[in-house]
This record gives sequence, structure tokens and C-alpha cells, in this order.
Amino acid sequence: MSVTNSKKQNPCKIISIANQKGGVGKTTSCINLSSYLAAMGKKVLIVDIDPQGNASSGLGIDKDNLDYSVYDVIMGECAAADAILPTTVPRLSILPAHKHLSGIELELIQMEQREFILRKALSPLRNHFHYIFIDCPPSLGLLTVNALTVSDSVFVPLQGEFLH
Ligand SMILES: Nc1ncnc2c1ncn2[C@@H]1O[C@H](COP(=O)(O)OP(=O)(O)OP(=O)(O)O)[C@@H](O)[C@H]1O
Ligand SMILES: [Mg+2]
Repeated sequence: MSVTNSKKQNPCKIISIANQKGGVGKTTSCINLSSYLAAMGKKVLIVDIDPQGNASSGLGIDKDNLDYSVYDVIMGECAAADAILPTTVPRLSILPAHKHLSGIELELIQMEQREFILRKALSPLRNHFHYIFIDCPPSLGLLTVNALTVSDSVFVPLQGEFLH
């Protein structure tokens, strides 16, 4: 995907789907909301920053045979645009996760401006999508903090249960 920086007014909304509780429907909401908006004609990107990679596999991505993933984007090995893949849903693209993400919190700790790395990486994409959804892992670590610093809003799925 080729990306240029345009000065046009930016219509893109970046929405993190986050909750440190696991299994509350973050990934399901992310895939369903994105697919629905794409079916309505919007250009949508999912950024999968969960080392489990469920949004990626849920959209048919073979996570073991990627040229680049969000791991490479965060590590500065490639531009975000180089790691984006199309999905079987028209107008829905994904920046996929890789299992290497499971160790990235330790690598992030040593980086300068570590809370803003995703923000810098995703900003050139704002002119190319109407919506960018970030599927967060079930924790409040640096990956989720990176998602929050780039987001315009946060969607928090909840499940009504005793041990929440
Ligand atoms: N609205 C719903 N009603 C019933 N079950 C649901 C609903 N949404 C998701 N589920 C089921 O709940 C389980 C967990 O969903 P999902 O993987 O989306 O949660 P998650 O918050 O992303 O989990 P994790 O924290 O591990 O990333 C899945 O088996 C999914 O099919
Ligand atoms: Mg999930």
C-alpha cells in the first residue's frame, strides 16, 4: 500500500477496543464492527496488537507466514503501510499480529517515547481510512498504552459477571 501525507482535513477515527479483563468480547466486537462499517462502504483498518493474534486469524491471516507484522512496525523495521494486508471482506484491511509481540513489552521499555511509538507509526494512515480499530490484549501494559495514546476514543466491552 502506498501512503502519502495529505493536508486534507482528516476524517479518520481511531478507536481502541480495550479491557484488561480477558474474554469479554474485544476481538469479536472489533471484527464485527469493522466488517459492518466496511459493508456500509467505509474503508476500515484493524490493527491487531494482541500477541494472541485472534483478530488476525479470525480474518483468515496465516500468522506464521507474514512478511511483516505490527511487531516489525513497532520495532521500526518497516512502515505500517508495508505490513497492511487485505482481508476477504471488501474495504477491510488488517495490520496483523505475530507471536513475537508477546516479548515486545521488554523491548519497548528501553525505547525513547515508548508510549507514542504506535501513534507515530499510524499517523500517516489517517488519510487512508475512515476508521482504524485497535484490538488490544487483555492487559494494561505498554502495548495497550500505545493504543490509547493514538486513539480518538476507547470502546470497552464488558461482561456482567462476579469476578470482573
Ligand atoms: N456477544 C457475545 N455473546 C456471547 N459470546 C460471545 C460474545 N462475544 C464474544 N463471545 C465469545 O466470547 C469468547 C471471547 O471473545 P473474544 O475473543 O472476542 O474476547 P476478547 O476480549 O477479545 O478475549 P481476549 O481478552 O482473550 O483477547 C469467544 O469464544 C467468543 O465467541
Ligand atoms: Mg481478543
